[in-house]
Amino acid sequence: MTVKELFGAIYKKLVFLFAQDAQIDMDNIPKHIGIIMDGNGRWAKRRGLKRSDGHRAGAKTLEDITDYCGKIGVKYLTVYAFSTENWKRPKEEVDAIMNLILEYLTNMEKFVGGRDCRIRVIGDRTALSQVLQEKILEVEEYTKDRTGPTLNIALNYGGRDEIVRAAKVAAEKLNNGEIKDINEEYFSSLMYTGNDPEVELIIRPSGEKRLSNFLLWQSAYSEFWFSNTCWPDFTEKHMRVAISDYQKRNRRYGGV
Ligand code: IPE
Ligand code: IPE
Ligand code: MG
Repeated sequence: MTVKELFGAIYKKLVFLFAQDAQIDMDNIPKHIGIIMDGNGRWAKRRGLKRSDGHRAGAKTLEDITDYCGKIGVKYLTVYAFSTENWKRPKEEVDAIMNLILEYLTNMEKFVGGRDCRIRVIGDRTALSQVLQEKILEVEEYTKDRTGPTLNIALNYGGRDEIVRAAKVAAEKLNNGEIKDINEEYFSSLMYTGNDPEVELIIRPSGEKRLSNFLLWQSAYSEFWFSNTCWPDFTEKHMRVAISDYQKRNRRYGGV
């Protein structure tokens, strides 16, 4: 551990000690939570670190939050790791993110060790490097029969891209007579998250209040929770506050 990492770990402990906490109702845990893991770059900049250091710190947070979600019984966690728009960033940063993801998937046993977690990657993987695509297949195959929480990692994912792809599949099947009609249920089944339960809660740290092309179709009736804390400083306490807030909401789905 470098001195910088040591100070980072101490700082995170302090954030954890002083962060607001909340009680959650264990009988009403959301089955599916989406997280836009944002703020890695700003977190690093404030500490005079490289943006890639922020991404590494963010990856550690993902380990902790995956652990916590498993503990409280969240069945599906969908995390935004790289958007279809993130290719606009400098090549150096894109490479650092891709290498970090490859490193994590390669050390998957360490990453998900003991977590009994099923890993899936959602998004257009054809644009990823061959070695990363192969690693993704390997990890998905290796973890597919696990019974713990499912971790969907959104990688080169875009909500609009997902909808356009689904529309193309639906149009083709309608054209060749495989289906007679396109309805919402069928369209939902064409999403990457097709068989997953509804995304009940979407969390975005770092102070931004937008979807940035995350789960556009799936979020129609999701609840949202925002925090000013950047993702690398996010802790299980933030999760408790988010879930507790979600549990107080009155979800009407257009009814009274
Ligand atoms: C989120 O953190 C991670 C990715 C988009 C890959 P950012 O890198 O967007 O961090 P900020 O928003 O610049 O602080
Ligand atoms: C969304 O964050 C993508 C991820 C967190 C992976 P961005 O940082 O790319 O979103 P904008 O640019 O602030 O909308
Ligand atoms: Mg950002």
